[in-house]
Amino acid sequence: MTIGTEARRPPPPFTLHTLDASSPRTSLEPVLRLSNRIFNTTASEPTHHSSLDEWCARLRQKDSILVYGSTAPDESIDPASADGMPKRGGQVQVQTQAREVVGFVFAVVKTEPALPFPTLHVWLAGVSERARGSGVFAALMSRVQHHARSKGVNGLSVATFPATFGKMYAILLKQGWEAREWKEEGKKVLMIKAI
Ligand SMILES: CC(C)(COP(=O)(O)OP(=O)(O)OC[C@H]1O[C@@H](n2cnc3c(N)ncnc32)[C@H](O)[C@@H]1OP(=O)(O)O)[C@@H](O)C(=O)NCCC(=O)NCCS
Repeated sequence: MTIGTEARRPPPPFTLHTLDASSPRTSLEPVLRLSNRIFNTTASEPTHHSSLDEWCARLRQKDSILVYGSTAPDESIDPASADGMPKRGGQVQVQTQAREVVGFVFAVVKTEPALPFPTLHVWLAGVSERARGSGVFAALMSRVQHHARSKGVNGLSVATFPATFGKMYAILLKQGWEAREWKEEGKKVLMIKAI
């Protein structure tokens, strides 16, 4: 029994994938769908955050990376042969469900006066609600950090809204990120972490 703290879920079996400038446009679509769901983009006017053209353009920028996690395909027995006994044609029907995207981090190189050096900037990131607290996000960020190092980039950055994305802000503080600049009347903060 867990008292006082939320029990962490066991990690789901997930696989990490990396998309870059050479990836086909269609490979971005399931990740964009998850992003649009997480950020509820249909509730307001479309912005560049929900545009496939914008995603493709950003991914074509030098050293950009889109890392996402997906579940392994599930195999389930067709309900028509749920007892596992051969039915029509003497074969048990097995259905393979598509892989599900469970989280992503989209990062692009950023240079701006508030940053002491160019960073790999987390432009968008999210984990599907059912996969939260399962280790996917740490794995995604670890791969992004590895990519930054491999490109000779010395830091990560992200701009977030602590009042809206409180968990993200708490994770960043816990992971040693520092506030570099508060913008939009203190609602938005540019955070940085040297690596
Ligand atoms: C923010 C969000 C992506 C975090 O994903 P999550 O699955 O909920 O995160 P987790 O619960 O697994 O937390 C990450 C854990 O990994 C740890 N961790 C270890 N290494 C880490 C790393 N390199 N980077 C990040 N976290 C790391 C964190 O400290 C945290 O540990 P804790 O649970 O002991 O606090 C997710 O909650 C989400 O999608 N929120 C809505 C959208 C959003 O806020 N996006 C960001 C907008 S800027």
